[in-house]
Amino acid sequence: MVTNNAMYFSQIHPERDRYVFGPGDTVVAFAQANNMRLRGHTLIWHNMLPSWVAEGKFTREDLAEILKSHITTIVGRYRGKIAEWDVVNEAIEKDGSLRDTFWRRNLGPDYIDQVFRWAHEADPDAALFYNDYDGEGLGVKSDGIYNLVKGMRERGVPIDGVGLQMHLRLEAPPNPKDVADNIRRLGALGLKVDITEMDVRVKLPATAEKLADQARVYSAILNASLSIPGFNALVLWGFTDRHTWITAKFPGYGAPLLFDEDYQSKPAHETMSKGLDRH
Ligand code: G3I
Repeated sequence: MVTNNAMYFSQIHPERDRYVFGPGDTVVAFAQANNMRLRGHTLIWHNMLPSWVAEGKFTREDLAEILKSHITTIVGRYRGKIAEWDVVNEAIEKDGSLRDTFWRRNLGPDYIDQVFRWAHEADPDAALFYNDYDGEGLGVKSDGIYNLVKGMRERGVPIDGVGLQMHLRLEAPPNPKDVADNIRRLGALGLKVDITEMDVRVKLPATAEKLADQARVYSAILNASLSIPGFNALVLWGFTDRHTWITAKFPGYGAPLLFDEDYQSKPAHETMSKGLDRH
């Protein structure tokens, strides 16, 4: 289970001296009550920044102090209750370079190393991940991610894993062999690899044929990943087509998850269950 929208910077820390812990506490309590492993999402992102941060006029030292305090407060509050953290989200460009974000501009290019160190200090037992999209298979962006995390490992930065978001479009899924090869090379660095936000959007209407194809895409990714050393988890970005970010973001697309809008099991659910049973 993932904390989803509850812990974005703007949601949990909307003003400099005010945190809003209610929604996050609710998710954590639900996970604990139901014995579910919980993933925290996300400490550092260029999106979902509150205006007091994005528009504030801070020195580099002040901003570093603000960020350290933010990370220490949140990771510390949920210490022992959140098993994995997406520490840094989407910091690599599609050409493989380091993205020009608010954090990079104001803290310098080694901000990523620094925030992993702060997160590790706040909860030494949490597994710390770098998380990104469109770097699932092989290519310049996944090379950029690979080089980033390889460098972090070499510098002794406390990173435990890489999250492959896996937001797919039915018409253009990655080659499962490329995904397997990418997981293998990341695993060889001593990192865990989680698929962190999988969904497969379909151009509407979602016919029976498209849903059968969708099931094949889901199971091809699952089957390609399961036996690769380092592969650790597959997490979906929601469970019912009734509640998904796709509807708002991609008009004309939908039906990306394993249960339909009426909470009924879809072909993708059947094939994923069978794939896991076989493993
Ligand atoms: O902050 C407002 C709040 O004041 C208001 O009451 C509420 C009313 O709907 O909206 C709140 O903001 C929303 C926010 O989620 C928090 O709930 C935004 O409108 C909404 O656009 C935002 O969407 C999330 C989005 O990330 C943020 O960019 C989506 O639900 C979430 O699925 C999506 O998830 C991202 C991952 O974090 C990273 N990877 C890509 C993925 C899909 O974009």
